[in-house]
Amino acid sequence: VTIHDQQLHRGEGGELHQFAEDGHDTLTTAQGAPLADDQNTLRVGARGPALIDDFHFREKIFHFDHERIPERVVHARGYGAHGFFETYEPLSDITRADIFQRAGEKTPVFVRFSTVAGNKGSFDLARDVRGFAVKLYTKEGNWDLVGNNIPVFFIQDPIKFPDVVHAAKQEPDRAFPQAQTAHDTFWDFISLTPESMHMVMWIMSDRTIPRSFRFMEGFGVHTFRFVNADDKSTFVKFHWKPKLGLQSVAWNEAVKINGADPDYHRRDLWQSIQSGNFPEWELCVQLFDQDFADNFDFDILDPTKIIPEEILPVRPIGRLVLDRMPDNFFAETEQVAFMTQNVPPGIDFSNDPLLQGRNFSYLDTQLKRLGGPNFTHLPINAPKCPFHNFQQDGHMAMRNPVGRVNYQPNSFGEGPRESPTRGFRHFPSDEQGPKVRLRPESFADHYSQARQFYISQTPPEQRHIAMALTFELSKVETLVIRERMISHLLNIDETLATTVAQKLGLQSMPAPADAAMPTRQDLEPSPALSIVER
Ligand code: HEM
Repeated sequence: VTIHDQQLHRGEGGELHQFAEDGHDTLTTAQGAPLADDQNTLRVGARGPALIDDFHFREKIFHFDHERIPERVVHARGYGAHGFFETYEPLSDITRADIFQRAGEKTPVFVRFSTVAGNKGSFDLARDVRGFAVKLYTKEGNWDLVGNNIPVFFIQDPIKFPDVVHAAKQEPDRAFPQAQTAHDTFWDFISLTPESMHMVMWIMSDRTIPRSFRFMEGFGVHTFRFVNADDKSTFVKFHWKPKLGLQSVAWNEAVKINGADPDYHRRDLWQSIQSGNFPEWELCVQLFDQDFADNFDFDILDPTKIIPEEILPVRPIGRLVLDRMPDNFFAETEQVAFMTQNVPPGIDFSNDPLLQGRNFSYLDTQLKRLGGPNFTHLPINAPKCPFHNFQQDGHMAMRNPVGRVNYQPNSFGEGPRESPTRGFRHFPSDEQGPKVRLRPESFADHYSQARQFYISQTPPEQRHIAMALTFELSKVETLVIRERMISHLLNIDETLATTVAQKLGLQSMPAPADAAMPTRQDLEPSPALSIVER
């Protein structure tokens, strides 16, 4: 039964509504009243004023007037598909997650790919990070792996998220650029945020102009935990590897494609799935223990760092296949609500501060975006396993407790009960320390992995990074921001810094940046802050 059948055509008993004279279903109001004329409003005479008893017109225009909901505050432009996840082998020694207990088990999934900065109506081939959000409807609750196609992030602390997003999106006075990082406020923030340098290398690479969603990797970014039945924890990083491999377009191709077909990535996914050419990814994990974490060169809680696959190889544990497009874009792709906090028993969080901030943010934003606390009742968000609780009422409640009792414990023997053995138990990590606002020293190296990434690229890929930086910074009108960026590049690769500086026509090279966070004094407007003559 499709959503179309459920919502538009089927009556209570599953019978079709009565038919119109030509054999189609009869057009009705939302109340089910059959309609005779949907072409003309009710008027006094053919040329007279409209009448307030035209309930048909009022209902139709009222509903149209309320069609829009807020777009996502980030990742507004996206495209989704249904499919399944197939588990390769039982992982019961490392996790009690039900999805990983049986080889060959198939779990339904919904995936939404997105750009980050652009508005809902922006173009597909913007130079941008791509979201790779996966909802797995497991038998013990939904697991949302809300990832990106880049394995690191701009910031280390969630308190900076509003700032990085404000800086990346359109500037508030002029409301442009709508989907470009190439502007002053973005590079101003970046140049004042040394921790973003590793991410900057990735976003200036070909990774941010993918050929199609089908040729992208996905990353959970943060360190998570697998927890087994004995409450033993193993750290885990999640990676999606596309069966088709990685492909990108060149920047000049991206610019042309955006003009000719702003829906390029949507069309590609639609056409490949509709023609039976189902895209596939492997879910791979990097597994490690506390001992590895203690001896690794970087802090495994720092979301601006990766664990190189040369040091810790990935292990494939299952495959994801996308084989069905949604029946309705709005009902499914727009209303789907992914949340990092949606984890089933056996999967848990690490103390990555960014992950902990995300766990607060998604529920909060969806309460607003989807109009109240009952968005989990929407078919795309509801679990596909049985679920029972005493939550009730609120706007649009469609699943209220049945019977007299809506609390527990109760003496009436009614309603669901906790299950100490099967239920979710948070990993009992031992935490202590003073209450502080302090960045750990172990998060301080902002350049080494940026350099490693740049060096790992082939010469043509390195050229593309230099060209991307040159293009982006050439759109920055405030000279001091360009210079500040060059001073960071000097800490990453001297040849790269010099190449970009020369192409930008910089008069002299600045000193390498001090890796520390900017002080108040650094941020005072200085006489050096000049605007490029147009
Ligand atoms: C979407 C917050 C970092 C991946 C969103 C949304 C918010 C948000 C508010 C909109 C959700 C909605 O309206 O349904 C944050 C915060 C972050 C953060 C506060 C850091 C502090 C990240 C990171 C990743 C990521 C590191 C990748 C690992 C995504 C994706 C979506 C999204 C894929 C779109 C989900 C969809 O397709 O509906 N984020 N985010 N975010 N975020 Fe984040």
